[in-house]
Amino acid sequence: MQIDARTVKKHFEKSMEDYDKNAVVQRLIAGKLIDELVKIKTSFSDVLELGSGTGLLTKEFFARCKCTSFTANDLTARSKFYLDKILPDYEFIAGNAEKIKTGKNFDLIISNAMFQWFSDFKNSVNFKLYSMLKNDGLLAFTTFSENNFKEIRKTTGISLEYKKFTDLKEILAENYKILHAEEFDYKMNFTSALELLAHMKHTGVNSLGTRKWTFVEVKKFCEEYQKLYPEISLTYSPVIFIVQKK
Ligand SMILES: C[S@@+](CC[C@H](N)C(=O)[O-])C[C@H]1O[C@@H](n2cnc3c(N)ncnc32)[C@H](O)[C@@H]1O
Repeated sequence: MQIDARTVKKHFEKSMEDYDKNAVVQRLIAGKLIDELVKIKTSFSDVLELGSGTGLLTKEFFARCKCTSFTANDLTARSKFYLDKILPDYEFIAGNAEKIKTGKNFDLIISNAMFQWFSDFKNSVNFKLYSMLKNDGLLAFTTFSENNFKEIRKTTGISLEYKKFTDLKEILAENYKILHAEEFDYKMNFTSALELLAHMKHTGVNSLGTRKWTFVEVKKFCEEYQKLYPEISLTYSPVIFIVQKK
């Protein structure tokens, strides 16, 4: 599926109000990422967060780590509205993280549940983010691997191009020392396919195409999903990486 940054931005902006209530997996992995980070280091000088959204990861980071300067980025400038409530002093840069210009380097770049939206993961981590890290700098992020939303892919044929865990590791190993790498599956169950669709909408997931579905298309999706997955389950497959610039 082609990633259109304008559509991704629009979908996330619409979801932000309901995001925190619905982002069960995103909250879980933000916590797990920081659990692993604090085993390595808790005090940083310059930190950059990419795809800060409503600040789930930002809160986790500041609850257990500290830094001298913090820069946040998101496709949507609305993220700043949420971060202003969390942070007294920080810089916010709106726009696509793949093209971000910061004017400084960082000893830590963090990101939760965002790198799957990169149009070119390899180029982003191995060139763009690599060039913004100081020597020995850390890149700590979560994203999702190939099984993510496998039920949606099977039912609709539509999916982001989630990479295999082994491929993500291989790409990162080119330029980074891997300090932590983890993958697991997390199944959510819903009472109906409509409830599942609402869950996806409220977490900003745009895996169902750019066009609004008609009533008939929604009905067909629900019937098909309930037939294939009577327990109305949805698989997330998060991955957690902490890597160090070589
Ligand atoms: C699933 S949300 C995660 C938000 C937050 N990191 C958290 O822990 O809940 C993904 C966020 O990434 C942002 N995003 C998606 N693609 C992006 C890109 N290319 N550059 C910057 N932000 C992006 C979206 O606007 C959204 O706020």
